[in-house]
Amino acid sequence: MFPLEFPLQQLAEKPDATRVLDPFCGRGTTLYAARLKGLSSVGIDINPVAAAIAQAKLTYVTAASVVELANKILRSSTDNIAPEGEFWQWCYEEETLQELLALRASLQGLNTPTAAMLRAVMLGILHGPQNKGLPSYLSNQMPRTYASKPAYAVKFWKTRGLLPVRIPTLDVIRRRAERLLKAAPVAKSGRVYLGDSVDTLQRLRQKFDLVVTSPPYYGMRTYVSDQWLRSWFLGGPPEVPYGSAGQIARQPNQQAFIQALADVWTATADRCHPGARLAIRFGALPSARTDPEEMILSSIQLSGSGWLVKDVHPAGISPKQARQAEQFGKAGSAIDEVDVIAELNQ
Ligand SMILES: C[S@@+](CC[C@H](N)C(=O)[O-])C[C@H]1O[C@@H](n2cnc3c(N)ncnc32)[C@H](O)[C@@H]1O
Repeated sequence: MFPLEFPLQQLAEKPDATRVLDPFCGRGTTLYAARLKGLSSVGIDINPVAAAIAQAKLTYVTAASVVELANKILRSSTDNIAPEGEFWQWCYEEETLQELLALRASLQGLNTPTAAMLRAVMLGILHGPQNKGLPSYLSNQMPRTYASKPAYAVKFWKTRGLLPVRIPTLDVIRRRAERLLKAAPVAKSGRVYLGDSVDTLQRLRQKFDLVVTSPPYYGMRTYVSDQWLRSWFLGGPPEVPYGSAGQIARQPNQQAFIQALADVWTATADRCHPGARLAIRFGALPSARTDPEEMILSSIQLSGSGWLVKDVHPAGISPKQARQAEQFGKAGSAIDEVDVIAELNQ
């Protein structure tokens, strides 16, 4: 994720912007920044977990309505069949698992703003550490950021004798929703599309005047498999998916990656007004032994779609990243990142 300051700064640099686009929206930082400024926005992402979280960033509902929907689903649910395998018996207590299955099944058929918010709340509480005091997560002991692989997790719980405890799902939903929605700004219209950016852009009708985006960094793993439990909750299979279909990062070589980015800039230009601003944050892992600045500039040049590069500079680092860099020595500076600003030919 890039820090909120990056899209906020781009919005400040383009005060006449009316509609904002992020063709690699991830968890929706750009969309949220646009919302804070009262602008409508569109985001596209091929990862269902990212798209579901981004969608919630555009949603304005009350915590009470989220709790009411969850309660309604839980009260009307009948027995759901749990996926097979030891993992499920060790990860969730039986009653908690039944609640989870009921919410998963019902939410797949619901497309209201409240359902979008409840879905995002569920993704946030699905797994995590067991804290002291009131529980914040539904699972047995697990990291919060990624889901452990089933065989590893089961072994971990068994060797430590960690049995899953009953966690009342509705209470955790209530606490999370109240915290999340306490100071939510009023939402502007906007939409998140789940899919490939080029395919989706070609189907869009709106036009944009500000694009703020960050394509997958070159040489970075996609982490799709780390999100397997969240993907399952959204309707995916109950096991770790090892493919990462459609992910631009999966291109076979650097030239193909540059071409894929060029196609995105072309499709973006087609959906932008003349004079539109394009701000890209891009990076590469040192292990990829390449210059991200060169890569991103050649992708813009290759696209030949009227984007004129106005500025290139090292990516600003947020105060939080600076603190992390200090704490972990070199870790914070391990990625070479650049910001490129372009403008669409008038
Ligand atoms: C660096 S992340 C964006 C992070 C985002 N700026 C945020 O703040 O959360 C890049 C995103 O591009 C998405 N992506 C990769 N290939 C894509 C494609 N072909 N079409 C649309 N999105 C894609 C990935 O799923 C990932 O979420």
